[in-house]
Parts: sequence; C-alpha cells; structure tokens
Amino acid sequence: MPKVRSGATKSGSASGRRRSGKSEAIAKTQRNGLEAALIVVSYIGSALGPRGRYKAMYKSDNFVTPVLVTKDGWEALNRLEIEHPAAKVMREAGKALHYSVGDGTITAMVLSGALLRRAEQLMRVEVHPSVIAEGYALAGDKALEIMKELAQEFDIEDRESVLKVARSCLETKVPPEDAAFLAPMVADAVGKVKAYDGRGVFVDPDQIDVIKKTGGTLRDSKLINGIGLWREPTRYWMPYDVRDAKIAFIGEELQIRMALMSPLFKPEIQIKSPEQMKAFKDEERKMLMDKIQLVLDTGCNVIVSSKTYDDYVQVGLGRLGILAIRRALDADIKRLAKATGGNIIAETVNITKDDLGYAEHIYVKNLEGDNWIFFEGCKDPKAVSILIRGSSQNVVETAGLAVKSAINSVDRAAREKAVFPGGGALEAELAHRLKAWARTLHGKRQLAAMRYAEALESIPTMLAQSCGLKPLDAMIKIRAEHANGSRWFGVDSARLQLADMQGSGVLDVYAVKAQVLKTATEVANTVIRVDGIFSRPKYIPKRKKHPGPGGQRVTAEMRDPDYHPPAEVRRFMKETW
Ligand SMILES: Nc1ncnc2c1ncn2[C@@H]1O[C@H](COP(=O)(O)OP(=O)(O)O)[C@@H](O)[C@H]1O
Ligand SMILES: [Mg+2]
Repeated sequence: MPKVRSGATKSGSASGRRRSGKSEAIAKTQRNGLEAALIVVSYIGSALGPRGRYKAMYKSDNFVTPVLVTKDGWEALNRLEIEHPAAKVMREAGKALHYSVGDGTITAMVLSGALLRRAEQLMRVEVHPSVIAEGYALAGDKALEIMKELAQEFDIEDRESVLKVARSCLETKVPPEDAAFLAPMVADAVGKVKAYDGRGVFVDPDQIDVIKKTGGTLRDSKLINGIGLWREPTRYWMPYDVRDAKIAFIGEELQIRMALMSPLFKPEIQIKSPEQMKAFKDEERKMLMDKIQLVLDTGCNVIVSSKTYDDYVQVGLGRLGILAIRRALDADIKRLAKATGGNIIAETVNITKDDLGYAEHIYVKNLEGDNWIFFEGCKDPKAVSILIRGSSQNVVETAGLAVKSAINSVDRAAREKAVFPGGGALEAELAHRLKAWARTLHGKRQLAAMRYAEALESIPTMLAQSCGLKPLDAMIKIRAEHANGSRWFGVDSARLQLADMQGSGVLDVYAVKAQVLKTATEVANTVIRVDGIFSRPKYIPKRKKHPGPGGQRVTAEMRDPDYHPPAEVRRFMKETW
C-alpha cells in the first residue's frame, strides 16, 4: 500500500537568495505540502480516461482482504494511506466530489496537481502565494462563466444521448467492450425510473438497486424489472414461484416468545397446575393465530417481514401455500413496498386489503449457492435492479461502481440539462479562451491566471499520453486547432487519435465538470496558502466524573472533611484522585 508522508525537503532557498530562519521554515512547509500533494497526483493521475492505467490495492498488514484492481479515482484515493495534511486535503476533496456528483475525481486531482506545480514555479520567482491564489480564483470563476456559454443541450428523452453519457462514464472504469454491454442496461434502467418534479426530469439513483454477485461472466448481468432480495423462503415447501402476488409487509414479530420477554410488559405469570399451563399456551397461540388470520383475510399469498415468525407459524403458512420471507432488510422492505404499492404494517391488527402490494411474478433463483427472491412486474415500475455478475469479486465490485457512477452521471446531466463533448476538448477550449482573457489582467495576477489556463491543458495532454501519442506534439496540434476555431478538438481514445469530438460518442456532464473545476481550484488554493503545519496535542481522556470506590458516585458524606473513610476506600481515593 503506497503511503504519503511529509515529503523530503531540500535544503537551501527556492529563490536562491538568503532567507531568514522563519521564512526558510515557511518555504519548507510550502514545498512539503506541494510535494505531498504531487505524490498523490503522480500515483492516481495515470488512471485518467478510458485508456488510463489500473491501480492494484491491497492492505499490507491484512492478507485476508482481497486485492482490488480499479481505475475508479475515488476507490484508489480512498485506499491510500495518507498522513500529510496537504495530501489529506486532496483526499477530502475527492471524497466530496464522489459523494456530490459521483465522478470526476481523477480530473480534479490532475488539475489541482498541475495548478500546484505551476504555483511552485511562480513562488520561485517571488510571486506571493496569496497573489497566486487570487489569480487562480479569478481564472476559476472566468472558466465557469465560459463553461456556461459552451454547454450543450441534453435531453433525457433522447436515448442516444443517454447512451453516450452512460458509455463515456462506464468506459473510464471498465473495459470498452463491457462498457458497450452495460450502457444500454443503464439507459433502460434510467428510462424506467425517471421522474418529473417541479423543475424537470430527474433520476433517483436509490431506485436502481445494483446487486453484485460473483459467478458467470459480466455478460450474464441483466436488468431486472423489479427488486431482488438476498433471502429465501422460510420453509422449503413454500412456493418458489408465485404469479399474481399480493404481498403483505409486516413490521411486527409474528411470534409469542419475544412479546413476553419484552421489558415493556414486565410479565408476571403465576401458573400452579399443568392445566393452567396448557390453557395459557393455548391462549397465547390463539392470540397469534388471530393476528395471522387477519393477515390471511386480506387475501395475500406472500408475506414479507423484517422480523421473524414462530416455527409453527412458518409450517402453517407453508401448508397454506403462502410464501413467507423473514428478516428482510429495512432498506429492501421499504423499496419493495414502494415498488409494489404496498404499506408496511407496524401493528398487524390494522392490516387491510389496501395495504397489500402487487407483483406479477415472484420467483426464487439460486445464484452461486445463495437463494435470491426476485420480484418482477411490480405495480409501480419505478424500481429496477441491475444484477451484476462476474468471474471474481473484483470484477463485480468495479462494474457495480461503474454502473452506479453512470447512473449518477445521467441524473446529473438530466438535472442540469447540459453536457459537453469529452476527450479534453472542453479543457483545451477553456485554456484557449482564458489565455486571451488573462492578458487583460493587471499585476502579477496575470501570471497566475495564465498558469491556470496552462494547467487546464494537462487534461488533454494526459489523455493523449494514455493513448500512446506524444504529449507535446498532441498539445501543439490541439492548441492550433482551437486557435483556428475548432472548439471541440480533443483526444479520441477509442480511435487513438486527435479528432473533433463534436458528434463523437463521448459526452461529459456539465455538473461534474463545473464541480471538478471548483474543487481543483479550491484544493490548489488551500495548499498554496498554508505556511505552517501544526499537530494537535494528543487526546487525553477526561477523568471520570464520579470516581468513587468501585465506580460509585461520591456521596456528600465522603466530601465531608470530618469523614474518615475505611482503609480500602482511602487507598482507592489516593490512587484515583
Ligand atoms: N472515449 C473517450 N475518448 C476520449 N476521452 C474520453 C473518452 N471517454 C471519456 N473520456 C474522457 O476521460 C475523462 C474522464 O476520465 P475518468 O478516468 O473517468 O476520470 P474522472 O475520475 O475524472 O471521471 C474525461 O475528460 C472524458 O472526457
Ligand atoms: Mg469518470
């Protein structure tokens, strides 16, 4: 596992001039921060784009955790063992990106790395860090402004566009042939769950359950028009295939034992003869049976419970041909109830016919030794699952992550209704326009803004490099094309060449790109502005509030100066107070 500690320091001043002890210390701190951040970038940056390299992660002190081979930025960053605060800033930024827009981590890291490298050069020629940060912030704002102008319309109703967005995201995380296989699945799933709110169409990623299960190959993955539960019927003689299912969702225990054990009731039962015992048991059973009768009266043929049932209840339900599922996870049962149009019943006495959910087909399927229950053809088709299969844990994990990320991207594109052609074309165009704008700035901020524009070019450069093209030649050509008005000229990783990306199959999402730019600027400016690193004092646990003998409260009597405690209490007080 790679580790990022404070970077090695070089002696001597960066500018070559003599410095006082304090300013030398500041320069050293800044250099350390930059170095630590750049180590992170050098580690993760090469994973950028569809031709990016994979990262293999393992835990050095743990041979049980499987090795993870991934190309996903956040997955790789998250597993880095990081100690230096500057590198931690980068990881936190990556985390925020991952959880807010679900993609763009590597681009943000590469960009902030490029910004930091250029900041270091500027510091060497005595440009003050706060001026650099100001110039970067100005350029960042201008870039966002230009981005708004350049954005292209995205329509979620247009399946081709959805496919393009999904595939562009998938391609960067799984091999291209797998991406081409998974993209239509994502598009179909998104098409099923998309919903309208006041502002437009959106996709709720929670309504698409990504089930990961090893076995078979990735090509065995499929879209399930419903929900899958990793559960099995409580008794094997229950039906394994139910058509026209009417489902009751029970949140209450259907067993007696637990009710009696509940501290809430504090039961006190006095039984003096075997007859009384029998009468008590019979009454108990009758109460439970009455409850179950209420459930059966609704006409349900499937019962899903987040709790469990008594043994004889399971047997009885099985004999009646009812499929009973127990211990469903809360999240699953909620999603299932929503999808089938049912209500979860907390108190069984309140159940009515209207609380039942409906699914066309429920069946049990064995996947690699585990039984799964699939609910298909639900009343509300707005709940689907994508079942990811693969030859190893690693394959299903990475494919699952890629699919989730693609769903997120489509959701983001739908909400903002804006996308860009990909392949680094946007960054190249931004750089081109920012350079012209930077010349209008006065003071040393101009230098920083110029460097910001150059830093943006690191994205097409990296993409070109990953395609085996010569980065310098590629950049010269891209610059020239953009200067001649070809605004979407970039790197086509599929054909391994430079090309106009307008009309190509690669679409990047506006919301992701905007957030990436903001994050990268912020990360760079945070690291640049730091001139001292201090560690917080070690945490010292507080003394117990009442450390009386044996952990008891100290009584008023003990506090009395005339109180003479017994010897063992005295010893205890001496030790602890
Ligand atoms: N087929 C493609 N050709 C060229 N560039 C592509 C292609 N697909 C994706 N990209 C580019 O890859 C970059 C994203 O790479 P990725 O590895 O997903 O990093 P991130 O973690 O930043 O999303 C984007 O700039 C996108 O334009
Ligand atoms: Mg990506």
